[in-house]
Amino acid sequence: MIMTKTTAHTNIALIKYWGKKDAALHLPYTDSLSLTLDGYYTTTTTHFIDAAQDEIWLDHQLADAAFAARVEKFLNLVRTLNHSQKRICVQTINHVPTAAGLASSASGFAALAGSLDKLFQMNLSKTDLSRLARRGSGSATRSIFGGFVQWHQGTDDASSFAEAIDENPNLPIRLLSVVVNNQEKKITSTKGMLQAVETSPFYAQWPQVVQTDLKSMLQALRNHDLELIGQIAEDNCLAMHALNWTSRPAFTYFTAATYQIINLVHQLRAQGYLAYYTIDAGPNVKIITSIADLAQVQARVQANFPQAQVTKLKPGPGIR
Ligand code: DP6
Repeated sequence: MIMTKTTAHTNIALIKYWGKKDAALHLPYTDSLSLTLDGYYTTTTTHFIDAAQDEIWLDHQLADAAFAARVEKFLNLVRTLNHSQKRICVQTINHVPTAAGLASSASGFAALAGSLDKLFQMNLSKTDLSRLARRGSGSATRSIFGGFVQWHQGTDDASSFAEAIDENPNLPIRLLSVVVNNQEKKITSTKGMLQAVETSPFYAQWPQVVQTDLKSMLQALRNHDLELIGQIAEDNCLAMHALNWTSRPAFTYFTAATYQIINLVHQLRAQGYLAYYTIDAGPNVKIITSIADLAQVQARVQANFPQAQVTKLKPGPGIR
């Protein structure tokens, strides 16, 4: 029996992807840029089974209907590409809180794409693997590569893929993941971004915002300017969340704890520490800091939020 195991790490977008111009193909309205993280990852094993249906396991339990349906849709796509009818057993282990805005769909679909590539002996290049992972979840496109990664929006299936900008960044960047709430989010990113695209009067501005931020970010990366990287990421994150506030009906992923952590980051910065924040489709915050300031920032976060689960993260590798 062929069994293929693949590990993929999550990524945090520093320039966010928020909106699809083609929902079926997962083509985004903008490019985006992320950092792959070492500490959070998904391991996926697949093998063929002699059964009438696929078998989908998540963290050693049969997956719920919503998760299974999303995975099966992806299995159907890969079967079609391979002219196959074979049923598959998928076993996923998430080393990341599922669906709490910590990008488990990014590592999840990247690992699944990598595992199926081996199972079907497709021998895809990393570029093509990123195109395949994209069909599962947009952010999964970027988790194929390590370090800093750019997702080129493209105009069709062939031209929308990720590219490594710097797989082994020689930059003292560190992140602190501050998890205040690991409940499933009420509005999935798929739904939230659709609502923003369809109803925010400011969505028309978003592609321009991203283009400007991306240009500045690429320059800041070339200059190893960590302060500027943090500032651009924070500004871009707020612009993304402003689209949600200005949707109709308006919504937000922020909770009271989110604002409290934001305030602490501002205090730390005023006191001279390198500290910026970025937030995805959930209440939890990632603090961008430096090797030099990591211990102090972590101590302050832990002292102010004793209940929070605080994890140190650094740049991580591509799939393996
Ligand atoms: C806020 O990749 O989860 O994390 O493509 O619909 O599966 P789908 O959405 P998903 O959205 C991620 C949104 C984000 C920003 C980002 O990762 O770029």
